[in-house]
Amino acid sequence: MDDLPELIPGFTSFRIQSVPVSSPLILAPMDGYSDAPFRSVTRRLGSALSYTEFINALDVTGNAPNYQKRCEFSEMERPVVFQLFDEDPSRMIRAAEKLYQKWAPDIMDINMGCSVRHVTNRGAGAGLLRHPEKVAATIEGLVKTLPIPVTLKIRLGWDEQSKNYLEIGKIAQESGASAIALHARTREQLFSDAVDLDAIALLKQNLAIPVIGNGDIRTLADARRMIDYTKCDAVMIGRAAISNPWIFAGYDPSNVPNDLFRATVRDHLAKMKEFYGTERGCVIFRKYAKMYLQKRSIPADQIRPILMLNDPDRFSKSFLDLIENEKEKPIE
Ligand SMILES: Cc1cc2nc3c(=O)[nH]c(=O)nc-3n(C[C@H](O)[C@H](O)[C@H](O)COP(=O)(O)O)c2cc1C
Repeated sequence: MDDLPELIPGFTSFRIQSVPVSSPLILAPMDGYSDAPFRSVTRRLGSALSYTEFINALDVTGNAPNYQKRCEFSEMERPVVFQLFDEDPSRMIRAAEKLYQKWAPDIMDINMGCSVRHVTNRGAGAGLLRHPEKVAATIEGLVKTLPIPVTLKIRLGWDEQSKNYLEIGKIAQESGASAIALHARTREQLFSDAVDLDAIALLKQNLAIPVIGNGDIRTLADARRMIDYTKCDAVMIGRAAISNPWIFAGYDPSNVPNDLFRATVRDHLAKMKEFYGTERGCVIFRKYAKMYLQKRSIPADQIRPILMLNDPDRFSKSFLDLIENEKEKPIE
């Protein structure tokens, strides 16, 4: 971990129970994005915790073949947070115990904020916010079962009429949760409307455990604003980090040094090939490549044909040549 960056001036570290968290900037869990290679990239740049993509407790207890890829991580990522989702507290507890025994993550997190229909329809994700008794049973059971901190990630509530984040926060704290992350929108809002910074501030005022604010942070200035305004302990950055993982090192897209840009992108592609195998790694990497190139000065007509190359070796070579030969500064 020696090569991890220094803390950005003005930011402070904090703890989730016994786990030290070196900075208040954290990559948000994102299904389809926060896999081991991307987490390693962001962790090296300064993201202070590594949350897995959400893991379906049903897959864990039912020994489904594919979930284990979501659990793999490299030691440099620690502290690692495993995130589970389900609607059934006892199954979640069984799954968490099994995951802990096999993988020994540092923190276990429960997803109570996912707004996707196939998750909420079964009462999981933000669906749990409609059942405070399940929130209590899940957290209490996990705290009794696991020797590591238990945390949760929520939204403001199901809809405008049933905003219960404060009630859920208090229940979670009383049940033994060690931190809570709040995406400050309701499930009904999905990703629309402005995030409610006052709600994050109110949650922070009312709880003793660390509060992690989340929603719409695009720049380092946004992160500072959320922390200054709400006094939250940390912020989670999701979508903006996909195109700008350098935000964790203190850079906005317009000022990422070219050498750092190239080194990071090269490293990410190499890690993808190692983790998924060359062919699959290159295919999955394309969605990141597209985002990385969005804010650069390379013309779209040079990017498009490369992203369409099927052969992994040709894709890798052409893509790396493209970024090595970029002459101009990034676009503001
Ligand atoms: C593609 C995608 C996948 C997501 N997957 C998860 C997930 O697995 N677990 C979770 O708690 N939140 C998930 N989220 C929500 C994010 O963690 C975060 O709360 C949300 O994107 C708001 O933050 P942002 O405005 O910084 O993106 C996902 C969001 C996106 C865009």
